[in-house]
Amino acid sequence: MNTPAFFDSLTEQKPDPLLELIAKFAADPRSGKIDLGVGVYRDETGRTPVMRAVKAAEHYLWETQESKSYIGPEGDPAFLRALALEVFGERHGGRLLAGIQTPGGTGALRLAAELLALDNRRKIWIGTPTWVNHQAIFAAVGLQVGTYRFFDIDKQAVLIDEMLTTLQDAAPGDAVLLQTSCHNPTGAGLSQQNWRDIAAIIASNGLLPLFDNAYQGLGRGPIEDAAGMIGVIETVGEAMVAVSCSKSFSLYRERTGAVYLFGDQQASLNKGVGNLASHARTSYSMPPAHGAAIVAAILQNPSRRQVWVDELREMRIRIAEIRGAAAKAFGQFHPELANIASQEGMFSLLPIPPENVRQLRAEHGIYMPDSGRINVAGMRVEDVASVAERIGPYLA
Ligand SMILES: Cc1ncc(COP(=O)(O)O)c(C=O)c1O
Repeated sequence: MNTPAFFDSLTEQKPDPLLELIAKFAADPRSGKIDLGVGVYRDETGRTPVMRAVKAAEHYLWETQESKSYIGPEGDPAFLRALALEVFGERHGGRLLAGIQTPGGTGALRLAAELLALDNRRKIWIGTPTWVNHQAIFAAVGLQVGTYRFFDIDKQAVLIDEMLTTLQDAAPGDAVLLQTSCHNPTGAGLSQQNWRDIAAIIASNGLLPLFDNAYQGLGRGPIEDAAGMIGVIETVGEAMVAVSCSKSFSLYRERTGAVYLFGDQQASLNKGVGNLASHARTSYSMPPAHGAAIVAAILQNPSRRQVWVDELREMRIRIAEIRGAAAKAFGQFHPELANIASQEGMFSLLPIPPENVRQLRAEHGIYMPDSGRINVAGMRVEDVASVAERIGPYLA
């Protein structure tokens, strides 16, 4: 009798396209190649350095940490308190909050998704295009994923009316995913009026907002980047927020993040966190400690915190400079790309068909995913014009 081979019934999984792109870039021998694909911050020398504040915190931890014994599934309470103060401010929208530490922003989103499913939510609404992992995370827990068009790539403009109409028609109890700032992959920001309109519809329609907060401080500023989210929390009363420390502390591989729940009843929030903790316990038991210890050591110490605030500002200024140059250079080929200057964070989305993306890669060694998303921090300011010259003819 033939026994089936091990895992025979499984579907073959394609490798992650971004990881494939990184491998192809590494294997490209051309000296003028340029990587606009990878989603990490790069400095003017093309490196993703360990932040000075992080080095100082690690030094402090090395000297003072006395044990690496287990923590709990909820993680480090000092980290959760310090991060909440930094992200949401002292008033945190005038609502109560409770949180749990997670393995990065992805872990935070997955845990939030599990809680939505446990809470018998039917559906989550997501604007497109969005971060490639979003749909899969929510589908994985059995939620229906509804989509609406969020951004017109050709016009480089937010489709706020389509968004508001969709949220108007969503069923009470549905969840809505919102990116707090520095939208991945479009860089598109929302105006204060947009946020007020979104908050009003979410509140009147009884929807639950889930914020993906992965880039706070890399857009207009730490407080400015959170303002829309805080306004929604204030208006709606209940919300969930997935925070990633990967970009704003440059802690990518340390897997540092948190989920916070907002509401008016501490008992409900505690129940929510209790369920998150019990899910964590059966998945990975407890989150990795090192990154959270670093963040706490930075935020709780005024001089280390100041170093971090200054570094974050340096990153923001560099991104804004590249954006200014890119808006001019790309705007010559496609006038709407002048909007790159007012977009935020690391990403912008070029109107470029996938076959042209591949041609560009083959002919010029310029690497970006098929979507046409570019990481503006992948360029040096002085190279922007020549990169745009090479990309320009391939734009739609
Ligand atoms: C919008 C968005 N959310 C969440 C994440 C996940 O971040 P982390 O690396 O902390 O899991 C990313 C990472 O690229 C992202 O772009």
